[in-house]
Amino acid sequence: MNTKIQSISDGIVKEIININNISILELDQEEIINLFKSYGILLFRGFLAETEIFKQFTNSLSTDFINYAGGAFSRRVINGDETLLSVNDFQSEIKLHGEMYYQQNIPLMLWFFCANPPLKDGETTVCDGRQFFNELSSSTKELFMKNNLKFTVRMSQEDWQKKYQTDDLKKLKEMCSKNNTCLTVNDDQSIILQYICPAIIPSRCGKFQVFINSLLPTKQLSSQILKFEDDSEIPDEVMSELNQIAEKITTKIAWQKGDILMIDNTRILHGRRAFADNQRDIYIRLCSPAFPF
Ligand SMILES: [Fe+2]
Repeated sequence: MNTKIQSISDGIVKEIININNISILELDQEEIINLFKSYGILLFRGFLAETEIFKQFTNSLSTDFINYAGGAFSRRVINGDETLLSVNDFQSEIKLHGEMYYQQNIPLMLWFFCANPPLKDGETTVCDGRQFFNELSSSTKELFMKNNLKFTVRMSQEDWQKKYQTDDLKKLKEMCSKNNTCLTVNDDQSIILQYICPAIIPSRCGKFQVFINSLLPTKQLSSQILKFEDDSEIPDEVMSELNQIAEKITTKIAWQKGDILMIDNTRILHGRRAFADNQRDIYIRLCSPAFPF
């Protein structure tokens, strides 16, 4: 026995703890894959992993690493590798969400790596989107089953060129059509993007409904860009129901240096608590599983 497997408190996260000083690269991949398929989220702790090991380990289990073109936040590229990004754009809370659910092409899988933990606070938060769905009142379930979400974003020429990492309008059009996003270009080269998606999706296995989307942080950070498809507002009482459920079912992960977190982005929502110091350095990789999924 080189590892111990336990749950974090009574939460959903399975923790794989190194008890025999092995390298993370020695772990049985089939066991990892089976645990990942059952739980959707695994935390590897005590392996004293460094950035290069993190990259090797994630390369061995994942494929189709993507850069963050079109992403909502600004992210710092680590060691010149565009598929390795720092998540600390600002320090405030980010509510639970599925990664990049404001566009069609989402990464199916996420990896986080703790290069350095915060001195205090700044936990990563997670919850299971299946449980989130089950906790919804029947009227709210019905509301989101019947009404898609609509994101409408306006961007100046300077902003879209930066965000999409191109100044070529043709390339932007291609990216938008690949992402099923409706693009309007104004005379001054500013743009309007519109993306419509459901708030609830079927699970990969087809047996469950999953409440996973980027509704909560979008309403929190830029409320005006999100409405229902028919332009009606998401009612305040529904927002408070969602925020209450999120708080109730959240598991907090207090980072330790070298921790690695593996997340099924089709099922598990993540976010983070606010923090105040400048120590917190968490990296992310966006990709797909390199195994049948
Ligand atoms: Fe995120």
